Amino acid sequence: MSDFPEGAVALISGASRGIGDHVGAELLRQGWTVSLGMRKPVMPAWAEGHEDRVQLVAYEAGDVTAEARWVSEALGRFGRIDALVANAGIMIPKTVIEAEDDDIDAMMSVNLKAPRRLAKAAWEALAATGRGRVIILASLSGKRVKSAGAGSYSLSKFAAVALAHAIRQAGFDQGIRATAVCPGFVATDMGTTLSGRAPEMMTQPDDLARIIAMLLALPNSASVAEFAINCQLEEFF
Ligand SMILES: NC(=O)c1ccc[n+]([C@@H]2O[C@H](COP(=O)([O-])OP(=O)(O)OC[C@H]3O[C@@H](n4cnc5c(N)ncnc54)[C@H](OP(=O)(O)O)[C@@H]3O)[C@@H](O)[C@H]2O)c1
Repeated sequence: MSDFPEGAVALISGASRGIGDHVGAELLRQGWTVSLGMRKPVMPAWAEGHEDRVQLVAYEAGDVTAEARWVSEALGRFGRIDALVANAGIMIPKTVIEAEDDDIDAMMSVNLKAPRRLAKAAWEALAATGRGRVIILASLSGKRVKSAGAGSYSLSKFAAVALAHAIRQAGFDQGIRATAVCPGFVATDMGTTLSGRAPEMMTQPDDLARIIAMLLALPNSASVAEFAINCQLEEFF
């Protein structure tokens, strides 16, 4: 964590499993203090012996008051917030013709609106560090519509990519940098359910965690707007 001050704090949503769990473990390993947003908070095994640098917070993305509460709990305990990893997400595999408004609303709520509220709630704290960082876990489905079944999800993930750009625009002068991280299939519950692939045929969540740790550590003069990762060959990604 050479580019971050001692005690730098990262908030990670959806840290109970999958990518979020791996990001928490990797950031802790690299010296960060982590505040883990989980629907059902449980101390992960990898945190054992480091509880002084780990906070568990009950976090439900559908609750519009949750982000402000989380930020206040993190500031109350650690006094600073250096980075957000907005990772919690859902995928409803329906075409834009099959989907009902409720399906679209559910994905927009978790994949777009909650990350925006989190950035808004933490804004002053991020700016106060002079080098705040925001990672939006978007998707390659935010860069192209790969199939009909991914269409409704893509709506929310294109919006999530736009959110990362919008945050970067809003915060650049205050030293805030934002990145849309855009993976293809990742070997988690979500990736396995969607792709039916064997885990070794997908991007590994610990590789994503290493990428995110690297993005967080880059200096203000190395802003990365988007970072695309794929386990398979496609025309552009
Ligand atoms: N896996 C892939 O192939 C892939 C590819 C591209 C992008 N992504 C994106 O990467 C992110 C993480 O995905 P993943 O693969 O790790 O998914 P996952 O294994 O399904 O885990 C999803 C995480 O999000 C949390 N979550 C879901 N709904 C929530 C809500 N309403 N409030 C709070 N937390 C909620 C889950 O909590 P619970 O444990 O409580 O359910 C879990 O921690 C998502 O944004 C996803 O869209 C994934």
